[in-house]
Amino acid sequence: MSETLLKVRDLRVSFGRRPGPPWRRATTREFVAVDGVSLDVGPDETVGLVGESGSGKTTVARAVVGLVRPDSGTVTVDGHRLGPVGQRPAALQRAVQMVFQDPRSSLNPRMTVAAIVGEAWRTHPVSAPAGDRTAALHRLLDDVGLDASVARQHAGELSGGQCQRVSIARALAVKPRLLVCDEAVSALDVSVQAQILRLLVDLRASHRLSMLFISHDLGVVHQIADRIAVMRSGVLVEQGPAGEVLVAPRHEYTQALVGAALELNTES
Ligand SMILES: Nc1ncnc2c1ncn2[C@@H]1O[C@H](COP(=O)(O)OP(=O)(O)OP(=O)(O)O)[C@@H](O)[C@H]1O
Ligand SMILES: [Mg+2]
Repeated sequence: MSETLLKVRDLRVSFGRRPGPPWRRATTREFVAVDGVSLDVGPDETVGLVGESGSGKTTVARAVVGLVRPDSGTVTVDGHRLGPVGQRPAALQRAVQMVFQDPRSSLNPRMTVAAIVGEAWRTHPVSAPAGDRTAALHRLLDDVGLDASVARQHAGELSGGQCQRVSIARALAVKPRLLVCDEAVSALDVSVQAQILRLLVDLRASHRLSMLFISHDLGVVHQIADRIAVMRSGVLVEQGPAGEVLVAPRHEYTQALVGAALELNTES
């Protein structure tokens, strides 16, 4: 196993490029959403990715999980280079799981929780329990703080916080190495947000997970990240240990972000 679990090198993602001969491409306006981003996530490490809306955080996440194809640059997990979803070996696809912002739209409301987790096991049979599936499902629900009775409920009947716990259970079901959380607590009420954050912190330790934790909220990132990377306009402007970035930010954009977060804190 290599020292670094996730290695992103010189990632560039643009939108609006039309395939075709170069002279036609030159007339199409290209928007570069991510430009030259390199970052590492080590085993058991949580890296917070912050930046204002539109800075390219989700695009980085989507490139890491293979939902968007980069123009150039590489994403490797445990030394294996990742291609797009569908073209990567099942073991690697399983290793990187994503938890999305809106738990309601990322789960099929008509499916029961048991079926949602069952589907994850069907997609990645090596992660499926060899013995009693019901017992394994109940253990998984217990891990994410849900009662066993939730297994029979439909996703549409659950609260936002419960849905996000199910999303996390679905991700954990396939035994990932890295969890990519894209604004995973942003859509939740403040009290539920704190509970889910607590859960993620606990799971990180109990399941030895690495995380790429994306949020526009420095206060939230502060609670979970070992290291913080700061994006602005598609570029990574600063990264370092969380304490350093938050206490002594070097880049003036990070200084402004930290300043704004402190102001919000003293107001509330
Ligand atoms: N599929 C797409 N097609 C065209 N432009 C896109 C696409 N996806 C993202 N963009 C643009 O790329 C830029 C970066 O978007 P991205 O969603 O990565 O930002 P973000 O940092 O996640 O923002 P937010 O905090 O609002 O979630 C934005 O200007 C966005 O409009
Ligand atoms: Mg986003």
